[in-house]
Amino acid sequence: KAWRSSIIHCIADPSKVGNDKAYDYYEDGILVVEDGIIKQLGAANDLLATLDPDVEVEEHPDALIMPGFIDTHIHYPQTDMIGAYGEQLLEWLNKYTFPEESKFKDKEHATDVAERFTNELLRNGTTTALVFGTVHKESVDAFFETVEKQNLRMICGKVMMDRNAPDYLTDTPQSSYKDSKALIERWHEKGRLHYAVTPRFAPTSTPEQLHQAGKLLKEFDRLYLHTHLSENVDECEWVKSLFPDSDNYLDVYDKHHLLGERSVFAHGIHLCDSEYHRLHDTGSAISFCPTSNLFIGSGLFKLDKAEEHSINVGLGTDVGGGTSFSLLTTLGEAYKVIQLQGENLSPIKSLYLATLGGAKALRLENKIGTLKPETEADFVILDKQATPLIANRLANVKDIEEALFIFMTLGDDRAIKETYSMGERVYAKTIMS
Ligand code: GUN
Ligand code: FE
Repeated sequence: KAWRSSIIHCIADPSKVGNDKAYDYYEDGILVVEDGIIKQLGAANDLLATLDPDVEVEEHPDALIMPGFIDTHIHYPQTDMIGAYGEQLLEWLNKYTFPEESKFKDKEHATDVAERFTNELLRNGTTTALVFGTVHKESVDAFFETVEKQNLRMICGKVMMDRNAPDYLTDTPQSSYKDSKALIERWHEKGRLHYAVTPRFAPTSTPEQLHQAGKLLKEFDRLYLHTHLSENVDECEWVKSLFPDSDNYLDVYDKHHLLGERSVFAHGIHLCDSEYHRLHDTGSAISFCPTSNLFIGSGLFKLDKAEEHSINVGLGTDVGGGTSFSLLTTLGEAYKVIQLQGENLSPIKSLYLATLGGAKALRLENKIGTLKPETEADFVILDKQATPLIANRLANVKDIEEALFIFMTLGDDRAIKETYSMGERVYAKTIMS
């Protein structure tokens, strides 16, 4: 089957090769998919005549096709607590988050939320996410069972948390090892699923538990490590007092062998030079979560510093600290975060962060994040008529970069016309919204 529309994808990091060389755009393009895999991408002029006559061509004249969005940090159990008022991180956790997460002891509740969460991802064009569960292993079963049905490429893990949280939400170093191990054996690399070892953040794990996390990473291949890093000033002070022997926040994780090519650290706002160096040297990635960083008042992410040190950066919504499932909306906020620091976030770099940049952060760039042939056909169709305002602005843009910027400034779930996973339609606005 083939899709005909305007088509764009990033093919390289614009901070390395420049915006012009970082993307391919076809004003009138064709995307050919077979058995869930992209087979051809090119201009309609060149490709149409060469297509097998029995290939069905679906036409989307007022649309823009791009790779499915990749959310590199999100908490599915926080779906029903977005917009919790008035607190910064540590109080926000105690007052809102921990009570909400306690509900996931109940598998039925977890499944209900997992289903609504997954629908929300798809209606926002997100096809892959790196997802926090709760401390309960049932929460991860519920999530993987849900996304497996739609054959989505997803990464999730059980929270490890053995101190500085209510008793009803804590595990122990031994139980967290044992439960994580059982989940890894059940789910890791089953189809398109991957497991992430997930200590919540340094303050809620004893050194013994962090040691167990490191042990898991050593015992299994290609596991992810997913946690929070240097998000909030009070949190950073607390980490200093809890781990007086560590040189800095990142060093707490480093001492337990938690850095590496599949390690993703959410936020990384208040970092020193040696932390940037160490993230780079170990191939670790940062998830930039602008709506969360603004909403819980954490601070402004220094994208320029991460780029200077050639650190892989993906984009995260961090729902429910973040306020939107939409990576378009999240890019609109990312732009403002960078503006507040006197710089610009270009539309192409934005597209990169939401697609190929995320794929690179997750080491999945050979499978997702672009529309290159032989990669998986996870893509979205954006609607150029999504709203009257978007239609009007798009009628007056000079080029595709400006059009992208309009989608990021004004777009949200309304801009997503259809979402595809492995060439199968998993969301359509007209039918399913
Ligand atoms: N740090 C530790 N836990 C959390 C969480 O649930 N959300 C955010 N944003 N930061 C955290
Ligand atoms: Fe988070």
